[in-house]
Amino acid sequence: MPIIAPSILAADFTKLEEQIHLAEKGGADWIHIDVMDGHFVPNLTFGPILVAAVKKMTRLPLDVHLMIDNPDFFLEDFARAGADHILVHYEAVVHLNRTVNRIKELGLKAGVVINPSTPVDVLKEIIHDVDEVLIMSVNPGFGGQKFLASSYRKLAAVKLLIPKGNAIYLEVDGGVGPENAAELVKAGADVLIAGSAIFKSEDISGAVKKLKCG
Ligand code: DX5
Ligand code: ZN
Repeated sequence: MPIIAPSILAADFTKLEEQIHLAEKGGADWIHIDVMDGHFVPNLTFGPILVAAVKKMTRLPLDVHLMIDNPDFFLEDFARAGADHILVHYEAVVHLNRTVNRIKELGLKAGVVINPSTPVDVLKEIIHDVDEVLIMSVNPGFGGQKFLASSYRKLAAVKLLIPKGNAIYLEVDGGVGPENAAELVKAGADVLIAGSAIFKSEDISGAVKKLKCG
């Protein structure tokens, strides 16, 4: 069964705690938090203050997806706020090995994310050092976008790059819902990240359950 990571970007922020608890009740495993800076992506969201608030609402691991330039400037702030996993974009970092090691030195799981137009080959070296690889299945910046079908083949290709015996979580993010969940797991995804399919549903717990069972 896949790990389900509800993305709170699609939540109703006036009811955030209640909605997170409903997701937990449905079997959510992690909480995914999208940090956007208005530079790397054309949207602005939240920073460490929100991560610290969510930390008080749940005991689930916080999967913090940094869609920001210069993520190195903020790693300690997010660690202090309670992030459990920090994911940085390949496209936003020059010295990726240094950034990944810094995240791990802070005692957190480190992940690398690639955009839809970035080939999986760029992961060949760094894959030995990370705990998570995230394949963006939409162009990052917004929730509610259409899933890009090229992601299936990218997931399968990353799976082949993972060294035998390494426990790397392979994640997919963007346009994930009950209609493609089973196919994504078949292609190799271990973690399904979903915003709209969960938080825009009338039945948040049921939506999580549905994703879990494909
Ligand atoms: C997009 C974000 C996603 C987003 C997914 O840039 O990284 O995590 O919340 O939203 P849906 O599931 O609505 O596509
Ligand atoms: Zn995300």
